[in-house]
Amino acid sequence: MHHFFRAPDRVIIEALVESALRYKAIPDADATLGLGKTLVQIYLNPSLRTRLSTEVAAKRLGMWVSTLDAGSAWAMEYGDGVRMDTDKAEHIKEGAAVISQYADIIGLRTFAGLKDRTEDAAELGLSAFAKHATVPMVSLESALRHPLQSLTDMITIRERRLSPKPKIVLTWAPHPRALPQAVANSFAEWTLASGYDLTVAAPAGFALDAEFTNGATLTEDQNTALADADFVYAKNWSSTSEYGKIGEGLDDWQVTAEKMALTNNAKFMHCLPVRRNVVVADAVLDGPDSLVIEQAGNRQWAAQAVLRSCLGR
Ligand code: CP
Repeated sequence: MHHFFRAPDRVIIEALVESALRYKAIPDADATLGLGKTLVQIYLNPSLRTRLSTEVAAKRLGMWVSTLDAGSAWAMEYGDGVRMDTDKAEHIKEGAAVISQYADIIGLRTFAGLKDRTEDAAELGLSAFAKHATVPMVSLESALRHPLQSLTDMITIRERRLSPKPKIVLTWAPHPRALPQAVANSFAEWTLASGYDLTVAAPAGFALDAEFTNGATLTEDQNTALADADFVYAKNWSSTSEYGKIGEGLDDWQVTAEKMALTNNAKFMHCLPVRRNVVVADAVLDGPDSLVIEQAGNRQWAAQAVLRSCLGR
């Protein structure tokens, strides 16, 4: 069975990017491909872009779409052999098997709890669901990865790069709340799998797991990292050494116009939603080199390419 959970190899990434760009040029190119098929989306955490872009993409392929939100279904138990005497009314064994009868593809969003690093690393929600589902699954973001976002980012970089191997900088940025590492992990994983030159800048205590950054240049000096960058991708993630903490005294990691001036006229990227004047200054976000709206627009073509692939094309 074909699940979409993590970065595939470079050849497949390039094929997905090509497929997405074809849909961007001709959105209704496969308007009957998914006729009679159903996508069930399950959101255990909030979403604007992923939810809407995936629904639009499925409908452009002719699919039916049903969406289930956290709080509108029974809370699920994932553990094997558990005595179910808590607030969790349904076991994933039945839940995933039942939903599989209604769906041809299941999409699932679940975030890291940010309390127990080992538990988050096990991707319990996604892996338990996949174990008991009998149809292909698409990750709509999991504890560790956000592959639909990363495919979108690869599409955007492909469209906007001025050379085959641009310098891409993923920089940590401040945030008032603890956020998962998923977008940053995934961006690093996909960028490196695509053969790009990646530098990851993060303060001490915020280094991403080597599983995702192996092959990247790593630094704790943001200004040095930004020198000659062609793309700057800003993202907050919570501390990895003090797992789930936001860190103190790091406000000067905000991406400002002065910092962007160190780059090679870099394009600015962010997955959204973004905290203005915390993560990035208005002057950058509203400036001519900001790609964030265009990037979010590409979410629909990324989702369409992935659903097409799950439908066996
Ligand atoms: N970038 C992203 O995944 O946005 P949403 O959380 O709104 O889906």
